[in-house]
Amino acid sequence: MLWANITLYRSGGVGGDRTGTGHYPLLAMSFSLSRKQGFDTTGVGYETADLPVLLPGQSRVDPTVFDPRDWFGPDRRGLPFELEIGSGKGTFLVQQSVLQPGVNFLGIEYARAFCRYAADRVRRNAIANVKLLHAEAGFFVQCYIPDGIVERVHIYFPDPWPKARHHKRRLVQEPFLRMVHSRLVSRGCIRLATDHTDYFEWMCDHASRVSDLFVVEPFENTASAGEGELVGSNFERKYRREGRPFHAMVLRKIG
Ligand SMILES: C[S@@+](CC[C@H](N)C(=O)[O-])C[C@H]1O[C@@H](n2cnc3c(N)ncnc32)[C@H](O)[C@@H]1O
Repeated sequence: MLWANITLYRSGGVGGDRTGTGHYPLLAMSFSLSRKQGFDTTGVGYETADLPVLLPGQSRVDPTVFDPRDWFGPDRRGLPFELEIGSGKGTFLVQQSVLQPGVNFLGIEYARAFCRYAADRVRRNAIANVKLLHAEAGFFVQCYIPDGIVERVHIYFPDPWPKARHHKRRLVQEPFLRMVHSRLVSRGCIRLATDHTDYFEWMCDHASRVSDLFVVEPFENTASAGEGELVGSNFERKYRREGRPFHAMVLRKIG
């Protein structure tokens, strides 16, 4: 399955090979982050190793044994729960969480240095409604997220994997969308933004394959977005300086 494969492809590097040249410039950046700084992720950052182990024959963890919403503590129990997949350095989470203090946000990021950087940033800013998990998101959502609990899934500037032979590594595709659908609350949504025109066409194609589950809606900019921005994430700002075009949409759960 897609999300199992993604783990194997991790060595492809943070950000993927956008250029199609076989180079992964952000991988080096990821390592330099981890070498230069010691991050304190106490109370904010979680590792895949912190998750309960799946028992033989189990494909999902029993939600009475583990529920990621418990990471936010008893005072925040019952609040809306949102995910960001591929949260990078955590810019969207840090900006958006202060505008929505009544929402619990979990960022999932499989580049460990970025994840730890984001968790340290959240801790330094004493933000109580954001947690970070270092994990492959497809695996985590499949095995550890109970059904019907996620209000919104944010996926901003996901790795485009531009080479045709790598398209199968793209996060946004039909099996993934079907799986996420079951984890969303009624009328929950997936919010997608990319600078990559070919990947956006691919997203539209895969959205059309799940038209039994989702309707496509226009993307409303996040509250944290600055002037002329969709979201205001790190990659959006970098790509805006480069003059790249942006594409975005919302997939709203039917029912
Ligand atoms: C191009 S960056 C975008 C980061 C951030 N969303 C932004 O807009 O600045 C994509 C991020 O997604 C992460 N990522 C890609 N696939 C992932 C997966 N399957 N699970 C968790 N993180 C993933 C990468 O490590 C990378 O940090």
